[in-house]
Amino acid sequence: MLRRLYHEQPESFAFTAANQTWAEGQITKYPEGRQASAVIPLLWRAQEQEGWLSKPAIEAVADMLGMAYIRVLEVASFYFMFQLQPVGSVAHIQICGTTSCMICGAEDLIAVCREKIADKPHTLSADGKFSWEEVECLGACTNAPMAQIGKDYFEDLTAEGFGKMLDDMAAGKVPLPGPQNGRYASEPLSGLTTLKDFDSGHTQYNASAQLAADLGDSIKRIDGTEVPILTPWVGKDGKVAGREAAANPPAPAPAPKPAVKQADEAKKTKADEKPKKAAKKAEAKAEKPKAETKAPAKKAAPKKAAKAKAGADDLKLLKGVGPALEKKLHDNGVTSFAQIAAWNAEDIADMDDKLSFKGRIERDNWVEQSKLLAEGGDTEFSKRAKDAE
Ligand code: FES
Repeated sequence: MLRRLYHEQPESFAFTAANQTWAEGQITKYPEGRQASAVIPLLWRAQEQEGWLSKPAIEAVADMLGMAYIRVLEVASFYFMFQLQPVGSVAHIQICGTTSCMICGAEDLIAVCREKIADKPHTLSADGKFSWEEVECLGACTNAPMAQIGKDYFEDLTAEGFGKMLDDMAAGKVPLPGPQNGRYASEPLSGLTTLKDFDSGHTQYNASAQLAADLGDSIKRIDGTEVPILTPWVGKDGKVAGREAAANPPAPAPAPKPAVKQADEAKKTKADEKPKKAAKKAEAKAEKPKAETKAPAKKAAPKKAAKAKAGADDLKLLKGVGPALEKKLHDNGVTSFAQIAAWNAEDIADMDDKLSFKGRIERDNWVEQSKLLAEGGDTEFSKRAKDAE
């Protein structure tokens, strides 16, 4: 799981001209000062171009986005979709090894990878053409087992078919992505059960397989010339729609001026007030000792007063009695541990009804607790409660 820069690095990295134009177009998507938001698309395109992310590629992306190298490395090393070591020159195979695929034969596919590519994942085959890894669920579970190669999914694989596919790729052939067992997409294996008359009107293959078939190459590296560079937000003059306005806001109308003045005045008043406030604070500080001596007295007073007034024990020292239950007990004339210690079964049933808290008294054993506390002893709970005060 350690994701580090590979020990051997190329001298340099540069986007192809088309990829460079594409990357610059992507950066214009983001507002001024937020170019770092393009870090993942740019890293991804660098990987699509080279197959993996080298240190020079990471640095080149960082330079384009005005980011520290370490920030871009953090992104590249965080996401497992980024390959930090060289991959096969023809294909890097990602076998899904999660539940559905595992049940349906992913381990057989991995065995093929071990046999035909390399015993260990992330290792180049002897001829340098292939590499492989096991990945988590790729979301094509209905068509398990499956593998991702480049942008495409190859689904409903068998070990035999998959082995042949690797041989074909090694021989320069381009495999057709999608289900490899004749399914159109992810309909039931036994055939359609609904929408049987549905005429997809449709392409020979499902949409993504058809796109790959139309492109005629599902595994080649992306140099940016495959599809037109779409940056509709960039005008013919090279300017980004709406950006100009944001970058050069119209001169402020006269109205805002008073607002600025007001703000300045507000600041001034605040500034003027500061010394006054500081002086007040100082006065308060000077008086603090008095306040401090008074405060604890005030704090302690209510407790004492309450106890003295009611002549009551602190019933909250009983486990299971909070302020609300204590008040209810007081309302029912129970104010001392001695009273509770003397309760019999009848008293307990009676108080259970009055407190509307059936079973609480016995569950927390108030009687035994009260006997101990009435004699001046302490329970575990009362000790903790007193310590917390
Ligand atoms: S388990 Fe393999 S795609 Fe989901």
